[in-house]
This record gives sequence, C-alpha cells and structure tokens, in this order.
Amino acid sequence: MSSTAIANIGELVTWADDEPVRRDAGLVIEDGRVAWVGSSRDLPASDDVVDAAGGAVIPGLVDSHTHLVFAGDRADEFVARMAGRRYTAGGIRTTVAATRAAGIDALRGLAAARMAELRAQGTTTVEIKSGYGLDVETEKQLLIVAGEITSETTFLGAHVVPDGMSADSYVELVTGDMLTACAPLATWIDVFCETGAFDVDQARTVLLAGRAAGLRPRMHANQLGPGPGVQLGCELGVAAVDHCTYLSDADVSALSDTGVVAGLLPGVEFSTRHPYPDARRLLDAGVRVAIATDCNPGTSFTSSMPFCIALAVREMGMTPIEALFAATQGGAWSLQREDVGHLRPGAKADLLILDAPSHVHLAYRPGVPLVRRVIEHPLLRSCESV
Ligand code: NIG
Ligand code: FE
Repeated sequence: MSSTAIANIGELVTWADDEPVRRDAGLVIEDGRVAWVGSSRDLPASDDVVDAAGGAVIPGLVDSHTHLVFAGDRADEFVARMAGRRYTAGGIRTTVAATRAAGIDALRGLAAARMAELRAQGTTTVEIKSGYGLDVETEKQLLIVAGEITSETTFLGAHVVPDGMSADSYVELVTGDMLTACAPLATWIDVFCETGAFDVDQARTVLLAGRAAGLRPRMHANQLGPGPGVQLGCELGVAAVDHCTYLSDADVSALSDTGVVAGLLPGVEFSTRHPYPDARRLLDAGVRVAIATDCNPGTSFTSSMPFCIALAVREMGMTPIEALFAATQGGAWSLQREDVGHLRPGAKADLLILDAPSHVHLAYRPGVPLVRRVIEHPLLRSCESV
C-alpha cells in the first residue's frame, strides 16, 4: 500500500459535514483513496509528500454534461448569433454531416484533444453523449470513442430528427435497432425535449425504451423556452434535467419535491444570448443543482468548468462556494456517483491544487489558468456508481 501526503494546504474543500472547508490542512491518499484529512501540523508520515505551498485544494471537477465526440465547428453560427440571429436546434444537423464524414479514428483524436483541455482545467470526471451520428453505425462509433474516455457514456440518438426521416420513424429507429446496438455501450439514455427536437410524448417513449434496455435516464429540457420536459423528468424520476433555463413555479416545486438534479449549463446562455438560468431561485427552493459545460460546437464550445463557475457566480446568483459545490458534488449527484465530487475519507482521490489561496479565485479571476496540478486516480474508468 503506497501513501502520499499533501502538505501545506492553505484551504481544503472536502464537503465534510462538520467542516466542509478547512484552513491550514493536510490530506493523505492511500491506494487512490482519501485516507486522512486534518490539520497540517498533525499530518501523518507517508511515502511521498506533495507540497501545496499554501494553495487551495479542491475536489476534481465533475462535468456531468458534454458532447465531446464530434467533428467540425460552427463558428459561423456563433458570429451570426452575436450579430443578433437566434439559435435553433436545427444547427445540430450541420455537425451530424461533419461527424458522419470523419471516421472513428479522426473522432478519437478530436475527442482526446478536447479531453486534454478539460483535464488541464480540472475536470476529473466527465459524462460524454453521442448524438451527432443519428444513424446506427455512427452513434455506435461515438459511444465507442466516449467509452474509451469515461464510464459515464450517454446514448443521445434522440438529439434531433435527421434529414430525410419523419419524426415517428426516427423515434422507432432510436427505440429499436439503434437502442439495441447502442445500449451495451452506454450507461445513460438522454433525449432533447424541446421545440424543434422531440415533443413530450416522443421523449417519454425514448426514455422508457432506454430504461427497459437497462439505461438510466437523463434529459435536455426547458432550454429554449418553457415546456413540459421538466415535469416529464420528475414524473419518470430521471437523474437530472439539464438546461432548466425557462422554469415555471410548478417546475421548480417538482424538482425540489423529487430530488431530480437541475443541471445548469451557463456556457449555453453565454453563447446563445438567452437569459441565464436562475440558480438562486432553484437553491432557495431546495433543488439540487449541478453546473456543467455542455461542451458542444453549437451552443457552448467551452471545455472550462472554471469558466462556468465564474458565469454561475456573476450571472446566476450563486456564491463562489455554491458554484464550486454545484461543479463537484452537484455533478456527482447528477451522475449518481458517491465516490467523486468530494474529498471525505473514502473518496476517490481526484483533486486539484490551485495556484490560488482560495476557491473564490476561480470566479474572482475568470479566464486565468489556476489549476496548478491535477491528481487523479485511474481517470474516469471507475465503474463505482450507486
Ligand atoms: O445541449 N440542446 C441540445 N444539444 C446541445 C446543442 C447541440 C448543438 O447545437 O449542436 C445542447 O445545447
Ligand atoms: Fe447538451
């Protein structure tokens, strides 16, 4: 058994009940797990010592919503939006064409490069969706590539209806042959329940078929306007409804009553000029909130969780500590993981040493690369789900 001590931690964020944030702390890792947390002066002897030099140590960030496997970009759409054009779900088909043409080896290279970006910015657990293939072969390829990076793979065949098919026949394909081919490669099933994508009945059909095939449900909903998606998610008990930009009071109550996680994706509002979701309203109502990047070429081409934390603080009414909680423990709730998102003894020892004395600097110094060191344990391949 090998042990590593982290000494001279200026501020240690563990999310322990008694002392979630402690000063002048030390931490010991044994066999990839947090084995001890305490005051710096009581640090037990260990095989190795890493000196945090007064920097803050926080749990590795948990990005619970990405679309990392795709080809091409849509910078021209971004330029048009910044000049006043509205975002529509139809842009997804542009990326589908580029992704189908790319081939699995190119997709693998693109996804690995994006994953390196995420990692450098502190993400140690990531969820990755398919959804830019929209045919059996390409959706499978996307999940194969995603599965080489993470165990949190999501089948999102129901992203939009591809060109040349009716919605009904496409839902039949997604819940039939495509699901049969993709379910063995995925942990989760997702659907984009929104005007221009799938309506609430189609979304229900997709999620129930996925669940019957052994996948756990999660959703995209209420991104572009109010709609019935959140209520459907709460009725089915999905793990998370992501976006939650346009919510009624009944939606907020349903999320709070059911414990379904609201995944907030502020990179989307940054890049579409929609209003930001009201995190304050959700937190005050007792809703469990996660923050994620939604890294994708259409609505949020950022790989940076710290950028999303800064937006959440500046634009969504969160305090820095609430935003960090949502980007770590919130993400772990969203993915139904107990081993990540915190640094209590027993946690997977995925942690970040910051070039800053406090987690506050993640929002206070936006755009500055503050992740000095990422310590992680056989990254992202853990199958320890609850
Ligand atoms: O999460 N909302 C649906 N899917 C993506 C957008 C995808 C795209 O425009 O390419 C999202 O925002
Ligand atoms: Fe998304």
